[in-house]
Amino acid sequence: MLKITHLHKTFFPNTPNEKKALRGVNLTLEEGDFVTVIGSNGSGKSTLMNCIAGVFYPDKGHILIDGVDVTRMPEHVRAKYIGRVFQDPMKGTAADMQVAENLAMASRRGKPLSLKWSSQSSQLAEFREALKELDLGLENRLETRIGTLSGGQRQSITLLMATLVPPKLLLLDEHTAALDPKTAEKVLNLTQKRVSEGNLTTLMITHNMRDALRFGNRLIMMHEGRVVVDVKGEQKKELTIQSLLELFEKASGAEFDDPEALLTVD
Ligand SMILES: Nc1ncnc2c1ncn2[C@@H]1O[C@H](COP(=O)(O)OP(=O)(O)O)[C@@H](O)[C@H]1O
Ligand SMILES: [Mg+2]
Repeated sequence: MLKITHLHKTFFPNTPNEKKALRGVNLTLEEGDFVTVIGSNGSGKSTLMNCIAGVFYPDKGHILIDGVDVTRMPEHVRAKYIGRVFQDPMKGTAADMQVAENLAMASRRGKPLSLKWSSQSSQLAEFREALKELDLGLENRLETRIGTLSGGQRQSITLLMATLVPPKLLLLDEHTAALDPKTAEKVLNLTQKRVSEGNLTTLMITHNMRDALRFGNRLIMMHEGRVVVDVKGEQKKELTIQSLLELFEKASGAEFDDPEALLTVD
């Protein structure tokens, strides 16, 4: 489904600020894999996702989605394969447009662009139904401008938009980190629901180890630009924070007197 080989990315090469963000990432996802991604700050998690999404190109290596080599495919072209939700609720939706207009845009993923959207009642009914599932009282606010909604509401709508037309790949980069705990929980539950309903192949970066253990069928940990831990299936189910830290220490050769410094455990 997703095949990443020998991926390298260096920022500011050959300067005093040189930063090797990715140092040979290899990762293959099966269809329907729901992978949680953890790793300390600066370990390359977002860079990996940005290379997959085409925000920038890697220096070396290849990225294949469903057998198609997208390594050098422009971001807007590969967007038809990919649904994304980032940390910032302000990204991902058009603030000046109505809820319905945003959803209509998302419903056209991979289809030819048309300039005008006429509100077809059948589609509106479909949007209303989808919004009702969010349980945020948004089903009667189709004409509300997105910009007036709360962060949690926007993030939920972004998630809905990212999955309205099931993407080949769903990329989530700390998409609940900016939300209060209660709202974050709602958005995570919605994530689980959308992923399992669509059997979506998903990468979810989180700084929360409990969420990384709780969600998904597979967990990877990044360290200094590489994937150093990759745990699946039964082994993943049995993981605890303690055993995860041990795996990490073994894989990276690093020892942590203070595991909390590595990752947030709350
Ligand atoms: N657009 C960028 N320009 C320059 N350096 C970057 C950029 N994005 C990330 N980096 C650097 O690459 C390294 C990895 O960053 P990142 O992938 O954002 O880590 P993570 O998401 O795991 O915290 C960091 O040292 C970071 O400063
Ligand atoms: Mg990041």
